[in-house]
Amino acid sequence: MDIHSEKILILDFGSQYTQLIARRVREAKVYCEIHPYNCAPEFIRKFNPKGVILSGGPSSVFDKGAPSLPKSFFNEIKVPILGICYGMQLTAKLCGGKVERSKKREYGAADLKAKKDVIFDGLGKGAVRVWMSHGDKVNELPPGFSTIGTSENSSICAMRNRSGSIYGVQFHPEVVHTPKGDKILRNFVMKVCGCRPVWTMKSFIDTAVEDIRRKVGNARVVCGISGGVDSAVAALLVHRAIGSRLTCIFVDNGVLRKGEATKVESTLKKSFNMNIKRVDASARFLKKLNGVEDPEKKRKIIGGEFVRVFEEEAGRLKEVRFLAQGTLYPDVIESVSFKGPSATIKSHHNVGGLLKKMKLGLVEPLRELFKDEVRSLGRELGMPEEIVNRHPFPGPGLAIRIIGEVTAKRCEILREADAIVLEEIKAAGLYGKLWQSFAVLLPIKTVGVMGDERTYENTVALRAVDSVDGMTADWVRLPYDVMDRISRRIINEVRGVNRVVYDISSKPPSTIEWE
Ligand code: XMP
Repeated sequence: MDIHSEKILILDFGSQYTQLIARRVREAKVYCEIHPYNCAPEFIRKFNPKGVILSGGPSSVFDKGAPSLPKSFFNEIKVPILGICYGMQLTAKLCGGKVERSKKREYGAADLKAKKDVIFDGLGKGAVRVWMSHGDKVNELPPGFSTIGTSENSSICAMRNRSGSIYGVQFHPEVVHTPKGDKILRNFVMKVCGCRPVWTMKSFIDTAVEDIRRKVGNARVVCGISGGVDSAVAALLVHRAIGSRLTCIFVDNGVLRKGEATKVESTLKKSFNMNIKRVDASARFLKKLNGVEDPEKKRKIIGGEFVRVFEEEAGRLKEVRFLAQGTLYPDVIESVSFKGPSATIKSHHNVGGLLKKMKLGLVEPLRELFKDEVRSLGRELGMPEEIVNRHPFPGPGLAIRIIGEVTAKRCEILREADAIVLEEIKAAGLYGKLWQSFAVLLPIKTVGVMGDERTYENTVALRAVDSVDGMTADWVRLPYDVMDRISRRIINEVRGVNRVVYDISSKPPSTIEWE
């Protein structure tokens, strides 16, 4: 069974939630892709979806130049269509209904009174809690449509046409604040579009392994390992396909967490018998970072140096023809977004020079996956939880958690403090519940007293955040006793620290990392 044979096309009108739609569809084990709303009709025909979802978006259908579709779209697309929020308003407008310009945005929870319809199957009796975020609303149905759901503020909160091939919902079924929204999307995908749940990690592996073998042939492949989940899973998948013809290069940049390099290296080497070349380049990186305080400069130095070290090492390997990378679907979407290509490609991924110089082909086996899918894939490939469930760790590592100058000594202080944070968070059973937790070394010395002596030492900030995707985040209300243990242990065990403070800022307006 081809896992891509039954797929959904999501047309993006710029909603911040578009990726969530894709994730919900994938959770229903149906493959889908996000493309700009204005992608060519030939592309859609070739893509051959079993259904199309029109995302929400920040525009009003009344805005000049608001993203739209050709009027003929709804006649030409021969598969079911679901419009969400802006997607519904656009559907209504283009199919001959009326949309009302609203002065006030409706934002927040609402109760949907759903009529009996296949899309609402299994929602139970009574009102359904849904999440609204819209200005305009549909106030007159297009001909041939009927209302299948109302709410206090929207008399047409959900609609469908007579044949059941076009649906529209005013609310956002893709967000967690619509608790049964996943069911609604699942109903659309399975019952309305008739997709079967064939997108599983097991079948993904089979397909990916075949693809890699076909692409690579008998050549050798090189892959950079960073210690994070993505590169480790990408490498493991390529290894599953071509075994010892893959060589991984693990650059120790001197700003990794305690024991990190050894842990990842030994897991991949011992458990999976992979070729790992560990390069200790810490002295080189620290020398370049000497005296640098500006966060963006630190990032550039680390990114640039990584590429140089990697290129040198890869250049020594014989007969390498491909470079494997752990590029994920969100990076791919960003670069094809109609809002314009993103400039935020992470520097540690950017080994473009190497591709040109060594004339390498690119193998990106995770290009279709979201982060949570990469984790399931890792598990399916037998990767230990400890690596699969790792908190995200930035490419520039501890360097952007040492505020001010990065020195070997300051790295050591932070590495020890950070290890204690992680140990205690894990011991309290909190690790899996947090997006990230870590220590930050501040460029501030304060006075303390130890025994009878006055001390004048460093301050460490503790950061723990909850997040779904790193775009927004809330500081975590850690139990006092956990904070207490962390603080006591850091001050007692890490030389050079006499004060621990807790960061109680959310993103926005702060960021997760301090630099
Ligand atoms: P911020 O600090 O922007 O972080 O709220 C959002 C997420 O991105 C990670 N992050 C980085 N990852 N290179 C990376 O690979 C970077 O330069 C970088 N800066 C931030 C951060 O850890 C969080 O998960």
